Amino acid sequence: MSYKAKFRIWRGEGGEGRLEDFTVEVNEGEVVLDIIHRLQATQAPDLAVRWNCKAGKCGSCSMEINGKPKLGCMTRMSTFGEDEVITVTPMRTFPVIKDLVTDVSFNYQKAREIPSFTPPSDVRPGEYRMKQIDVERSQEFRKCIECFMCNNVCHVIRDHDENKQAFAGPRFLMQIAELDMHPYDVADRQDSAQDEHGLGYCNITKCCTEVCPEHIKITDNALIPMKERVVDRRYDPLVWLGNKIFKR
Ligand code: SF4
Ligand code: F3S
Ligand code: FES
Repeated sequence: MSYKAKFRIWRGEGGEGRLEDFTVEVNEGEVVLDIIHRLQATQAPDLAVRWNCKAGKCGSCSMEINGKPKLGCMTRMSTFGEDEVITVTPMRTFPVIKDLVTDVSFNYQKAREIPSFTPPSDVRPGEYRMKQIDVERSQEFRKCIECFMCNNVCHVIRDHDENKQAFAGPRFLMQIAELDMHPYDVADRQDSAQDEHGLGYCNITKCCTEVCPEHIKITDNALIPMKERVVDRRYDPLVWLGNKIFKR
């Protein structure tokens, strides 16, 4: 069964743009990305959209559908009414290159600022021995497909461009937490999370967790434990005294 859907899609580049209306055919089982491809094939050949796998695994097709961050390839048309106007806009937190394609280089810049896994110098690959519980903890975070919808929705940078310098966003604060929980990582993650990557800006609104397509519990399992680790180090009098003596 097919029907005609009404789409309102943001078109523009170079900081200028507008919403354009389209009426387009929808067939059973299709997702929003299918409809955007049909528009490219029939009515708007220059409509720009980023995608790659069409299987919810590459993280490329992030967009805002009716104001909510979603993967275009995983959003079924059957979740909308046939009379509903479906509005598709680019992610708001990142600059638009063209139409639905945003410049997400902010995220890659933040990724580069985080030192990679740092094992002790006397332990070689192949000699790591980890408890299963430590493996499982980091496996949840490793499901991330880098769609950047969590960073897109976090209010710390969504409405405050000026915070981007100081705040790595939930995706990369989660990565810091994962490394801090790794039993073989010896880099100092706690002070740098707070002082260089803006952990203190997060006030646990959990919007990041709500939009994660991999259902990673970013706030409960990464950000809150990381905050607790920082507090333990900074405000536990014994740890504080130990740090003072050790640093002499
Ligand atoms: Fe996307 Fe989830 Fe990874 Fe954030 S943590 S980038 S929402 S997959
Ligand atoms: Fe932002 Fe997530 Fe914290 S949305 S404020 S990073 S809980
Ligand atoms: Fe890869 Fe949508 S196209 S996640």
